[in-house]
Amino acid sequence: MEVVLAARGITKRFPGVLALDRVDLEVPGGEIHAVLGQNGAGKTTLMNVLFGLVQPDEGALFLHGRRVEFRSPHDALTHGIGMVHQTRRLVAAHTVLENIVLGHPRVRGVLSLRDARVEVAALCRRYGVGLDLGARVWQLSEGERQWVEILKALYRGARVLILDEPTSVLTPPEAAALLAGLQAMVRGEGVTALLVTHKLPTVMSACDRVTVLRAGRVVGRLRTAEATEDLLVRYMVGRDVAPGPAGPSGAPGRRVLEVEDLACLGDRGVAALRGVSFALREGEILGIAGVAGNGQEELAQVLAGLRPATAGRVRLDGRDITRLPPVARWALGVGYIPAERTEVASIGAFSLVDNTALTYHFDPAYVRRGLLDDAGLARLTRRIIDGFDVKVPHPYARARQLSGGNLQKMILGRVLSRAPRVLIAHLPTQGLDVEATAFVRAQLREAAAGGAAVVLISEDLDEIVALGDWVAPIYEGRFVAWLGREQADPETVGAMMAGRRREWAAAR
Ligand SMILES: Nc1ncnc2c1ncn2[C@@H]1O[C@H](COP(=O)(O)OP(=O)(O)O)[C@@H](O)[C@H]1O
Ligand SMILES: [Mg+2]
Repeated sequence: MEVVLAARGITKRFPGVLALDRVDLEVPGGEIHAVLGQNGAGKTTLMNVLFGLVQPDEGALFLHGRRVEFRSPHDALTHGIGMVHQTRRLVAAHTVLENIVLGHPRVRGVLSLRDARVEVAALCRRYGVGLDLGARVWQLSEGERQWVEILKALYRGARVLILDEPTSVLTPPEAAALLAGLQAMVRGEGVTALLVTHKLPTVMSACDRVTVLRAGRVVGRLRTAEATEDLLVRYMVGRDVAPGPAGPSGAPGRRVLEVEDLACLGDRGVAALRGVSFALREGEILGIAGVAGNGQEELAQVLAGLRPATAGRVRLDGRDITRLPPVARWALGVGYIPAERTEVASIGAFSLVDNTALTYHFDPAYVRRGLLDDAGLARLTRRIIDGFDVKVPHPYARARQLSGGNLQKMILGRVLSRAPRVLIAHLPTQGLDVEATAFVRAQLREAAAGGAAVVLISEDLDEIVALGDWVAPIYEGRFVAWLGREQADPETVGAMMAGRRREWAAAR
């Protein structure tokens, strides 16, 4: 899926209202993408930003991955983005043809109205729209007027159509016809549609994906094939959540980690990751929930640079690191806590100092003239032991002498001592006692509070839900959904990660 149109970090304030709060939107091409939300959620404002009618206070727009700036709707149209507004803007006394072509620069100059009629008739045939071009707009039904608006945008070369609540004034049959026509247009002609609505059946029946806004914020995005009306309602209205432990994040900041359409093979050469996309900001924790073997191990390894990506991209602070080896990523601030504490993350026969050296032997601060600085590493190891409450007699104890909890604290301390930008933690509390578990979780929160973006991969749903600002259930190499923390109750996430969406929906 290619993302045709994207908005990143869009913020828009009106006097006394934060209409949009760091909104990210990604619209893949050739799909109908729903923007769902209650009245006042910010849908129209967001569409107006995409169409150049409203200038955002912060954030940027991207078309086919390239940054664009729309100072006016004219700019948007020039880039192939058309909009059908919530309020009709047709001239009732004019004909259909006049409404479609008038105002278009070509039609006063080189083209006569008669030439334009030929073009518009061809456009109608191509998109399967039956309209009497000579009729006056006041004679038309609302459904037909809607088509006039759409044709007007298409005539101006729109390849991305923004429709703001297009069905709200239509009768049900008219609405159904409009949606069917839109679907045919998207499937047959590769047009991309952004459909603003607050109607759930419209989303479920006509749209491929949905981004849900609530009070100016994106609270969820998912494929409609994975959604239920129930779930979408909860996204839209939010719901009370039990006051859990205080969240790690204050106001999240810049995007740190951007993952785009990432794919890779598993050890047996079959696809393990089948197109995963997400972005994390400073201070955010993403909880990836899944049953082992659904691609999470491979995802961690691809992010850490230990497994090659077969497609897609990984960016760290805007820099493409997809092809960088692990050491280079580590130097740039990618920290990784592997799931296998004793097989991968440490060497049992080595002392703690030598285990520290395993990940610091590339760090210029601990290498002198090509030789490891043993004294420096011993000091660092001691700092980790003290700072992370590792119970061990001295830094030269062997790693295998440590209990699971103490070893994990050591591994955590080794990564966190470098203040990573991104921390990938795979099963960080598996098999630990209560005290060590609480300690590790607190450290993950603290890392986020310090500005890291944390990717937490866990099979412990309670852990995911307690820590994640975002929760992504992973199933067969794909994110099933992207849930804001308030939507991510264990029941929902559990059903999604089990691939049991239908049963779950039926059971409710
Ligand atoms: N031009 C404006 N001036 C002041 N406030 C506005 C303006 N446009 C929208 N708002 C406010 O911004 C918020 C989002 O509005 P809007 O984008 O129209 O929501 P939606 O389309 O989802 O119903 C609302 O609180 C609305 O009152
Ligand atoms: Mg609106």
